Amino acid sequence: MPAAVHTRERLHVTPAGGSAGAYITGVDVAKASADDVAAITKALNDHLVVALPGQNLSLEAMEHFTDQLGGKDITPYVKPVDGHPFAIRILKEKHEKLNFANAWHTDLSYLEAPPRFTVLYCLETPEAGGDTVWANQYMAFDTLSSGMRDTLMGLNAVHSAGPAYGTGGYLDGVKDKMSTKIEPSKEAYAEQSHPAVIEHPGTGRAALYLNPVYTQRIAGWSKAESDGVLGHLFRHSVNENFTWRLKWAKGTLAIWDNRSTQHFALNDYHGHRREMVRTSVKGDKPRAARA
Ligand code: SIN
Repeated sequence: MPAAVHTRERLHVTPAGGSAGAYITGVDVAKASADDVAAITKALNDHLVVALPGQNLSLEAMEHFTDQLGGKDITPYVKPVDGHPFAIRILKEKHEKLNFANAWHTDLSYLEAPPRFTVLYCLETPEAGGDTVWANQYMAFDTLSSGMRDTLMGLNAVHSAGPAYGTGGYLDGVKDKMSTKIEPSKEAYAEQSHPAVIEHPGTGRAALYLNPVYTQRIAGWSKAESDGVLGHLFRHSVNENFTWRLKWAKGTLAIWDNRSTQHFALNDYHGHRREMVRTSVKGDKPRAARA
């Protein structure tokens, strides 16, 4: 009898959208090698968001993979999963009306060093609905006028989690209606300044780094000036032409780059249950893009 030949399925990246998104197959994330992690990181530089369907991950395996991608980071103001300080559960039960992250944002941009990547694993999703949408922030920057690009290059913006997660803030008011466990805090009102346009450390490209949940104002501008320009940029930055939308299935793992995307979790599945677990990969302080 001939000896069994063991062939290892090869990691394959298939682009899924014109602006962002790729599917990765041929890798078992629970057993990812250093080469697999390097290929996934390259795919993130190329496609900004990747989805790996058909995974079978324990929370421990997901945490290990998060470490392989660069190290686990905490998610402030959301109660972690018991015994797993770096993981949060994102849950909407059938009877609930509110979901988590139903607004365009970049994860934790109010921190000095926001997470490089977010890792989200689907445990349960409705048959239809509950998709997540991402918007490419390189395109958001590249499609501005040269006058606006030049103006933004020299600016910083002030970010804070206060209006969302602060004591008395939006989520404090609705937290009892959500299964995702929000922990409001007065510390959330702390402010952090970041360049309005950042240089992606992996690609060297300039990306718009402003989002409507956490960016409060342009540093040094009056409220009226800042609200007017930010209002325009918030709308522009999520133009449909910059987006890619993922339809989840149980076992799909998605990873996205917070330095080049914003994202939005749709709330179009009342009467159905959706459950995810999420970890974050440590990042660095954003660096200003060079003119
Ligand atoms: C998030 O912003 O982390 C949640 C995204 C989702 O639930 O689709």
